[in-house]
Amino acid sequence: MAIRPIRLYGDPVLRQRTKRVESVDAELRTLIDDMIDTMRNAEGIGLAAPQIGRLERIFVVDVSPMKEEMEEEFQDILPQQPMVLVNPELTWESELEEKFEEGCLSIPDLRELVVRPESIEIAYQDVTMQKHSHAVGGILARVFQHEYDHLEGVLFTDHISPFRRSLLKRKLTEISQGDIQVNYPVQSV
Ligand code: NI
Repeated sequence: MAIRPIRLYGDPVLRQRTKRVESVDAELRTLIDDMIDTMRNAEGIGLAAPQIGRLERIFVVDVSPMKEEMEEEFQDILPQQPMVLVNPELTWESELEEKFEEGCLSIPDLRELVVRPESIEIAYQDVTMQKHSHAVGGILARVFQHEYDHLEGVLFTDHISPFRRSLLKRKLTEISQGDIQVNYPVQSV
């Protein structure tokens, strides 16, 4: 298990689409363990493979630090943390949308309100390639959608208005140049 540097905004790897995983071998298990370590070390609640420079269709989530904010109906998912989602697909999304403040370990010190569907259904495989499907709302739906986006080369800043983005331009440039203070290992281009 090891902590790997997190790629920062501006790194082209964050803009690539990921590839489906056919099976989880020993090397991929190590990668997944490292993703969990890296996420926890950075005090994040989700991390996708491109954020450590890999293009497998995998993300990890651990929402247990958010347990106070979790709605009661999703409390039963807490014992399953951390979760590893291999080849996730969003199979349904609610018409009802919600605004929620998001951040990203690849875009440190920046939080913005993002509008997304309030509830979703997600299908995925676990590390043994067993299939699962969950219908979730609230924080879990939010985290799953944010991490799913990473697998498509999409960042949360893509969802905000061009006007808001123009206000953040300088900050984003600083981040892409590694001109930031963070208390976890990062790698800029
Ligand atoms: Ni992110």
